[in-house]
Amino acid sequence: MLVAFQKQFHSILDSKIKIITGVCCMWTTDLLARYLEDEPLKIVLEHSRYVADLALEVADRLALKDDERLFIEEAALLHDIGVCQVHAPGLGLQGSHPYIMHGVLGRDILEREGYPLHALVCERHTGVGLTCEDIIRQGLPLPHREMCPVSLPEQVICFADLFYSKKPGRLGERKSVAQVRKNLLPFGKEKVAVFDEWLTKFAWNDLHH
Ligand SMILES: [Fe+2]
Repeated sequence: MLVAFQKQFHSILDSKIKIITGVCCMWTTDLLARYLEDEPLKIVLEHSRYVADLALEVADRLALKDDERLFIEEAALLHDIGVCQVHAPGLGLQGSHPYIMHGVLGRDILEREGYPLHALVCERHTGVGLTCEDIIRQGLPLPHREMCPVSLPEQVICFADLFYSKKPGRLGERKSVAQVRKNLLPFGKEKVAVFDEWLTKFAWNDLHH
């Protein structure tokens, strides 16, 4: 009797989660499709799904509430929308801006669309985040302001994005923790330290494959 009840409860819960996920994916997919098409749209949809799924794994480990989980999923699915305006022929993107600008461009788009909190995720997801000092020191073509993830959902999405690239044919390859560290090191030991802090905060290691 109890087992039957538990089974029924879990199936109701599963379908509820599926409904939430389904609705979320529909509007984010529609929005992405208004700014991207063909191969770039496919790449962004697939890449963002991998990022969202890893971010949701972290959210589960942190036992985040449904509304935070939903925000994480939506914002992860939209975090790269700004690539629609960059020049990256390898990804089929023929825009006029350098790739490094896709975060701020994404922020502009999502603010105009009426999603100011999702917009911040776009701006704050490059590497482990860019400080104003990074931007000035490296002479990056970006506004001089802090672009580091602040809220927990922003940090979780930024963290998840580090494990996946947008290289065609390799979208589904999840990098190891060691690989992510290696990729961050050229940008400074302090960047690796931020990543290491997140590994501890999110109780994350390579066993989570
Ligand atoms: Fe990304």
